[in-house]
Amino acid sequence: MSASPRRLVILISGRGSNMQALAEACRAGRIPAQVAAVVSNRPDVEGLHRAAALGIPTAVVDHTAFPSREAFDAALLEEVQNHEPDLVALAGFMRILTAAFVSPLLGRILNIHPSLLPKYPGLDTHRRALEAGDREAGATVHFVTEALDGGPPILRVRVPIHPDDTPESLAARVLAWEHPLYVEAVRLVAAGRVRWTPGGVMFDGAPLPREGLEFTGTPL
Ligand code: GAR
Repeated sequence: MSASPRRLVILISGRGSNMQALAEACRAGRIPAQVAAVVSNRPDVEGLHRAAALGIPTAVVDHTAFPSREAFDAALLEEVQNHEPDLVALAGFMRILTAAFVSPLLGRILNIHPSLLPKYPGLDTHRRALEAGDREAGATVHFVTEALDGGPPILRVRVPIHPDDTPESLAARVLAWEHPLYVEAVRLVAAGRVRWTPGGVMFDGAPLPREGLEFTGTPL
């Protein structure tokens, strides 16, 4: 990656609050990147309106218009590559991506997931944490590989579970932490402090712990 601001493409499927947090951090200079485009697989979602209001170019690649996952992934890859990204951030992007999309971008795609991975990959993370009687929940930013929510974690935040929590109250508490978490993780990758290498993920030149770094609200 060059020394000039990184080009960041953000993929969304809905509300776009994490996208907005990243875009505002880029604009404020807290992440050394600019958002080149926001791409959604669903038309007319709130996140597209948020991006347009921020003056960010938007595009839709509607998955329902494609006969197969592979055909959708090829079209999505073409749209993303058109924006020449250094980094791609999945922000509430709710489609499983195949190797056809991931391989050409390996080491440059991040995702945020609302659990302490490797616990609770997939959907319904907060309901599953409450049903298991967990005392803490959290969120994880990780590099995307072909394995669903299974790529190497970069940064995780722990969030307490309260006795009277519902999936909705817990989701809201975790989401408030997701925004600074994702900003910090993208900042570290865009600045080159966290790097994907064939031998594993490095942080400031040393191997990253298997579970990623811990985020407590203070920049690393
Ligand atoms: C966030 O909680 C994000 O972690 C989750 O969807 C929400 C999107 O909110 N992502 C996943 O569950 C991915 N498997 P947002 O659209 O307001 O950023």
